[in-house]
Amino acid sequence: MKKLFLFAVSSILYSNFTFTQSAKLDAQEVMALKVIWGKLGLSGKKGWDFHKDPCSEEGNWGSSVVCDCSFESNTTCHVTDIDITSQNVSTTLPSEFTKLWYLQFLALGHNYLKGTIPSEWATMRLSTLSLIGNRLSGLFPRALTRITTLLDLSIEGNRFSGPIPKDIANLKILEKLRICDNKFTGKIPTFISQWTRIETLHIQGCSFEGPLPSSISVLTQLKNLRISDLKGGASTFPSMEKMLGLKIVVLRNCLIHGQIPDYVGNLRSLETLDLSFNNLTGQIPSSFSQLENAEYIYLTKNNLTGPMPGWVFSSTKNVDVSFNHFTWDASGPKKCEQGTINVMESYSSSRNKQNSIHPCLRKDFPCTKSNAKQIHSLHINCGGKEVSINNTIKYESDAEKRGASSYYNAGNWAFSSTGNFLDASLGYDGYIISNMSNLHNVSTSDTKLYTTARRAAISLTYYGLCLMNGNYTVRLHFAEIVFTQDHSFNSLGRRVFDVYVQGELKLKDFDIVKEAGGTGRVVIKSYTVNVKNNTLKIQLYWAGKGTTGIPFSGSYGPIISAISVDPNYTPTF
Ligand SMILES: *[C@@H]1O[C@H](CO)[C@@H](O)[C@H](O)[C@H]1NC(C)=O
Ligand SMILES: *[C@@H]1O[C@H](CO)[C@@H](O)[C@H](O)[C@H]1NC(C)=O
Ligand SMILES: *[C@@H]1O[C@H](CO)[C@@H](O)[C@H](O)[C@H]1NC(C)=O
Ligand SMILES: *[C@@H]1O[C@H](CO)[C@@H](O)[C@H](O)[C@H]1NC(C)=O
Ligand SMILES: *[C@@H]1O[C@H](CO)[C@@H](O)[C@H](O)[C@H]1NC(C)=O
Ligand SMILES: *[C@@H]1O[C@H](CO)[C@@H](O)[C@H](O)[C@H]1NC(C)=O
Ligand SMILES: *[C@@H]1O[C@H](CO)[C@@H](O)[C@H](O)[C@H]1NC(C)=O
Ligand SMILES: *[C@@H]1O[C@H](CO)[C@@H](O)[C@H](O)[C@H]1NC(C)=O
Ligand SMILES: *[C@@H]1O[C@H](CO)[C@@H](O)[C@H](O)[C@H]1NC(C)=O
Repeated sequence: MKKLFLFAVSSILYSNFTFTQSAKLDAQEVMALKVIWGKLGLSGKKGWDFHKDPCSEEGNWGSSVVCDCSFESNTTCHVTDIDITSQNVSTTLPSEFTKLWYLQFLALGHNYLKGTIPSEWATMRLSTLSLIGNRLSGLFPRALTRITTLLDLSIEGNRFSGPIPKDIANLKILEKLRICDNKFTGKIPTFISQWTRIETLHIQGCSFEGPLPSSISVLTQLKNLRISDLKGGASTFPSMEKMLGLKIVVLRNCLIHGQIPDYVGNLRSLETLDLSFNNLTGQIPSSFSQLENAEYIYLTKNNLTGPMPGWVFSSTKNVDVSFNHFTWDASGPKKCEQGTINVMESYSSSRNKQNSIHPCLRKDFPCTKSNAKQIHSLHINCGGKEVSINNTIKYESDAEKRGASSYYNAGNWAFSSTGNFLDASLGYDGYIISNMSNLHNVSTSDTKLYTTARRAAISLTYYGLCLMNGNYTVRLHFAEIVFTQDHSFNSLGRRVFDVYVQGELKLKDFDIVKEAGGTGRVVIKSYTVNVKNNTLKIQLYWAGKGTTGIPFSGSYGPIISAISVDPNYTPTF
């Protein structure tokens, strides 16, 4: 099976196939290809010319059709691979793919395909099927559960819904499964334990219910495991002792309680470990000091206690331990800026002499400048330069480029940013983004607030510091400036996140495009907020929903264009 697949890949190298001159694509397959290309609306485009044999060099079909021409003494070809990624195909899926008996690799991702998967596809013998980033809908396609030859299945970023059928366990030799960002419901299937060969498992943004099945422990081949944002159903830390090849582990917001087991520090291949937004208690295991390959460690927003281990502060990697309950001692940090180590609100203030802990490390975070002038308004151009709007209001610059595990203090405000963009395309992993198309319903005076925005991969918390206590109108300015509005897959991008103000959930599954009535349009959310301890807190959290690969891979996470905070009282100075 695998051999055949490798062979198909190597056949892309035409030099191996000097005999293609005489070899011809099987006549029935030529017919099938014609029908498929016609149905997909691709006939005549991009040099796909049926006057030449699609398997021949003169055919010039490139990697969109790959053939194996070794049949009948090197005279007959069969199609093994079809790749029509990113071609704006907006039709339904033709059943005629089944007539390509030798087809193993089918990539139709990043198009605009609609409908479901034809039941006829059940007879196909594919090893790879990618449908990422389309408009496919309906229940989980039964046909897929019959293609038992599948090694790599990706249906993420579509509109499938309902429960995952038990029959998916038929796919016993799966190595990669990506089903993020669909509207599946129900529990994470316990039968995932059937997939003993699985290396890549992504289950995010699915609205699944917990708990994490303990049966996951048998998946010892896992290298890349991502599960996040489960609803209901708590569990303790899953047993992952035997998964020694793990490189990326995301178990974020999965309702995991109890201690982090010691063995996690022995998973020496770990490059990214994200255990944020759970309910983990106890100390960070001492074994964590041995995670030498881990570039990113997120323990953000748990209930971890005990002293902060020394390796955290000597680490040159990104370590985020913000929002925990560590015990402060004299070896603890004296200030909040710690380079790539984020320690915001990481200490429990109750058990210590309060004045020895820097306020930003504490939960209640009062104004430090006790005698200094307090402020009565605040304006930030998130991700942008300083701008003066209407010649009166100055929006402060917010151009800090870091954001994986960072705290940045600008004086009267600060932000704490957590998360790196997984799978990010080169050059598209920034925390500051710029508009990729025109803005629409923005007054000329305000344009500069919306041409840039700050983005975060997991969570972003802005703090207003040393505000006079009292009531304020807080305005959060948003515009979707990355996705476009046309009939290309670009328009299928969806950004969904949650917004908290003063710790209170204000917007759940907030979708800027939906609220604003399109991309490049402005929506302002306004709140009356009572500031008690001189501190205002605005938090954006990505709950794993929305697309992650449009327009580029690693394109996700909450964004915000500007923040304004104006007093509801008359300032006395
Ligand atoms: C088919 O082509 C391959 C590669 O050029 C060659 O090794 C093999 O002998 C050929 N087989 C026949 C039956 O001609
Ligand atoms: C797809 O559509 C977009 C927007 O209309 C266009 O910019 C792009 O060139 C198209 N791509 C192809 C391969 O036709
Ligand atoms: C976290 O765990 C503690 C102790 O088990 C429990 O009291 C608390 O309710 C849990 N919190 C959440 C958010 O699950
Ligand atoms: C943190 O853990 C302790 C037990 O260690 C528990 O009493 C407390 O409720 C937890 N706090 C939260 C916020 O979950
Ligand atoms: C600037 O003035 C315009 C026109 O009066 C108004 O629509 C806009 O909201 C003002 N901008 C800000 C940021 O207050
Ligand atoms: C960003 O928006 C501004 C204002 O609409 C526009 O002038 C500029 O061309 C846009 N940038 C891109 C790359 O489309
Ligand atoms: C702030 O607003 C709340 C209601 O939102 C009100 O009860 C309170 O009196 C206000 N405080 C001040 C100082 O105006
Ligand atoms: C832009 O359009 C949205 C939706 O129609 C509306 O809520 C918003 O107020 C508009 N913004 C401006 C600046 O006109
Ligand atoms: C304000 O700070 C005090 C002590 O620093 C703390 O007891 C109180 O809970 C805080 N209030 C709020 C609303 O955070």
